[in-house]
Amino acid sequence: MPNQKAAIPAGVPAIEANGLTVRFPVRGGVLGKVKDYFTAVDGVSFTLEQGKILSVVGESGCGKSTLVKSLVGLVPLASGSVKIFGRGVADGKIAPEGGERPARVCDMVQMVFQDPFSSLNPRMTVEEILTSPLTARGVAFDEARARACELLERVSVPAAAMDKFPHEFSGGQRQRLCIARSLTVRPKILLCDEVTSALDVSVQAQILHLLDDLRNDFGLSILFISHDMQVVRAISDDVLVMYFGKVVERGRADDVLTDPQHEYTKKLLSCVPTIKR
Ligand SMILES: Nc1ncnc2c1ncn2[C@@H]1O[C@H](COP(=O)(O)OP(=O)(O)O)[C@@H](O)[C@H]1O
Ligand SMILES: [Mg+2]
Repeated sequence: MPNQKAAIPAGVPAIEANGLTVRFPVRGGVLGKVKDYFTAVDGVSFTLEQGKILSVVGESGCGKSTLVKSLVGLVPLASGSVKIFGRGVADGKIAPEGGERPARVCDMVQMVFQDPFSSLNPRMTVEEILTSPLTARGVAFDEARARACELLERVSVPAAAMDKFPHEFSGGQRQRLCIARSLTVRPKILLCDEVTSALDVSVQAQILHLLDDLRNDFGLSILFISHDMQVVRAISDDVLVMYFGKVVERGRADDVLTDPQHEYTKKLLSCVPTIKR
């Protein structure tokens, strides 16, 4: 495994994003020519501190997923820059220091997605799913399998799961498998995009607890994307509120969620259903 992770300086933010802007072409006409550009993420800056959970909230379509993708190069940035543990990121690589080889962003940063059904290859067994990220990086199979067993236990999926296929599990268990897979390469940052949105409410709480435990055990820093204010309230240290691609409010989760300043945040909070007797 890359050893650059050993050299992470304390106190440096896990992610520093500066003025991130993503534009998508709008095509039209018979030839599908680019007529205009649509700005999905508009000058977003934020800092994810080491060991913290920063939530990005906002309604569907406000640019949360695009923001996350832009951090790891899945969509190109029109402008702005990203630093991971104080080092610049370009072309999926983290700038090296001294004589080091550049680290790949995917060794340091992993993503977990909303839909645990489509995120796992239906033709692979759990063993293959959990060992392949490591064997692809040159780790011996036995070592990769030992790590897979360790992680399976850590996410509370029975060891007998190893020989099964994804369709044999419930949604919550599949999300646990996705989380285990993301941890195989010992990342330092997790980007969780609506990871509880496809799950039952009772299962959501279990996954949130699991993420919080893993954050402590593995020293993870987590960027947590959600449109659900109750979920955000349960898990976040800090919150960033997005509206039409822009940040409209940010701060400590307790402050933003109890005493929102921006009208849009107030509206989002007022949408949280409460039971009145
Ligand atoms: N690849 C793409 N091409 C064109 N438009 C896109 C693409 N991906 C997302 N968008 C648009 O960008 C906006 C933000 O999308 P997204 O980041 O998925 O929002 P969210 O995750 O907050 O629901 C939406 O209007 C969406 O239609
Ligand atoms: Mg999204």
